[in-house]
Amino acid sequence: MFKNFWYAVEFSTDLEVGKPKKVKILGQQLVLYRKNSDNSVVAMSDLCVHRGAALSGGTIKDDCIVCPYHGWEYSPDGAVQKVPAQPDKAIPRKARIDSYPTQEKYMFIWVYMGDLPEDERPPIPDWSEIDDTETYRAVTGSFLWNSNYERILENGVDVAHTPFVHGGVFGNPEKPEVPEFVMEESDWHCKISIVLNPPRSKGIWGMINPNRQALADRPPVPVSTTWYLPNMILLDVGTPMGAMKIFDVNIPIDDEWTLVKFVALRSFFKGKWADRDARRRVFKVLYEDQAIVDNVRPELLPFDLSAELHIKSDQNAVKYRRRRQGSSRRAGASKATRSSAKAAPGSRPGSSRPRRASPCPSWPMPGTSRRSAAARSSRAAARRHRPAWSTAWCCTTTIPLRSRPPRPMNPPPA
Ligand code: FES
Ligand SMILES: [Fe+2]
Repeated sequence: MFKNFWYAVEFSTDLEVGKPKKVKILGQQLVLYRKNSDNSVVAMSDLCVHRGAALSGGTIKDDCIVCPYHGWEYSPDGAVQKVPAQPDKAIPRKARIDSYPTQEKYMFIWVYMGDLPEDERPPIPDWSEIDDTETYRAVTGSFLWNSNYERILENGVDVAHTPFVHGGVFGNPEKPEVPEFVMEESDWHCKISIVLNPPRSKGIWGMINPNRQALADRPPVPVSTTWYLPNMILLDVGTPMGAMKIFDVNIPIDDEWTLVKFVALRSFFKGKWADRDARRRVFKVLYEDQAIVDNVRPELLPFDLSAELHIKSDQNAVKYRRRRQGSSRRAGASKATRSSAKAAPGSRPGSSRPRRASPCPSWPMPGTSRRSAAARSSRAAARRHRPAWSTAWCCTTTIPLRSRPPRPMNPPPA
């Protein structure tokens, strides 16, 4: 997984003052909390260096977090500053845990867990439209997948699946061909712009925009899909009513689980009355995608481009695969250095080693199917063939297998 990137981990509004919160990303548990002095966000390892208690169960005192077990106090830089059981003794230098830089931007809390200096870190994409509350009305949501985030990212930018997976919602089964498209790319993103023929509008959209004419007479709709390294997507649709933009971050909890958090903007129906409908439309699409993607095999994106067949409409996905492949090739020089790097100060001994696979790795989730033994073995095969990546901007993270899936959290299907 790409480590040297900013990752959105939570909505800003979902982290309250005085309430530490546990999040999991890249196989690692973090605690987030807000400092009392200025409300800024602190992100640090959720593992007390004393006896391994979860700091997220603790309390906030001034700008520090207090461990719930024996009351050790950690300052925002991860250093222990008070040990209540022996207040007169010096605090050991090793008494510290990892603390990570954070930013609050575009409604999200972003955390940087890599090892690049500030001026070399890849940028957070420009999603300033999220802040344009004059033009857009926003709804947000979270959705848990039993899939690797790269499969979800590819699905999110794939225009050819919409007539089949989302037929009648925004894909048009009467018109499945993918026309010519324009591609734009940079070091960090790839965008394709295309004109599609939408299906007839339904629900409140259909009442205001009947769009009932024959397919040939319906106005075509400009659509663009963009991926941003390492895990973000923007879907931009110019509907007849106005613009609809769905920004989503595919948070890699670990190899097998991904938490999608989205901000869906619309420049039409900007009253609160339409929020529920807007959110319902996004969840409907997510459920439709999940039914397919959670059952794709191998679960991890093949590293070898020839392992799957590609056609022209897969071009932006191929760009993504090439980008990660190129990263791997550039990795040679720095791989040895990084893999032998010593554990960060304060890391708990052994905490970064992979755990054994759970005896029950396929606990089913609502809306997902139980993994078969064959699926699990193909996942293991894909993992074996996955190279260790390590470059200036991406490096390998060992992902411990989960012993239990995250708690169910998706809203019921519409
Ligand atoms: S486990 Fe945290 S203070 Fe003892
Ligand atoms: Fe989809």
